[in-house]
Amino acid sequence: MRVTEPIEPGYDGAIPTPTGAIRRVAVGSDHVGLALKTALAAACCKAGYEVVDVGVHETGRIDYNDVAVDLVRLLTNDKADAGILVCGTGAGMQIAANRYRQIRAVAVNDLYTAYFARSHNDANVACLGARLVALELAVAIVARFLATPFEGGRHQRRVDKLSHPPTIGA
Ligand code: RB5
Repeated sequence: MRVTEPIEPGYDGAIPTPTGAIRRVAVGSDHVGLALKTALAAACCKAGYEVVDVGVHETGRIDYNDVAVDLVRLLTNDKADAGILVCGTGAGMQIAANRYRQIRAVAVNDLYTAYFARSHNDANVACLGARLVALELAVAIVARFLATPFEGGRHQRRVDKLSHPPTIGA
């Protein structure tokens, strides 16, 4: 697979039908990410994913932290297989979601990172920056994230270490 092209040859702007382990997708955004999140949710729905939208649904300011927690709750209660969080850059959502041990959230504002976040890091939350990526690229990023399987093997050991980091003395 070519992972560095912005849009793959033949890509028609849609998210392919789910074929892998990810079938249920939770989506969320702050006020900055609302429009992109809504469009991505619609694209996932159209492709056949089961989508739960944890908000926001209005344009008033909201702290990204609060939305990230609502989405994490769904993942940790096995109500979703993966999450998509959108804020201005993806950074705030990534940091907020990664406060929780079960979460491996990655800011995926390019196709290369989207591919390796799944295949090497077994990322379960894709964070996108609405101020950084246009809709067409965002849809392609999400399509790649959802369709790419975790490779396992040597990467499993590293992912396990993420769940159980060593204690560091103060
Ligand atoms: C909101 O202004 C902005 O800080 C937020 O959307 C996000 O980019 C934070 O990381």
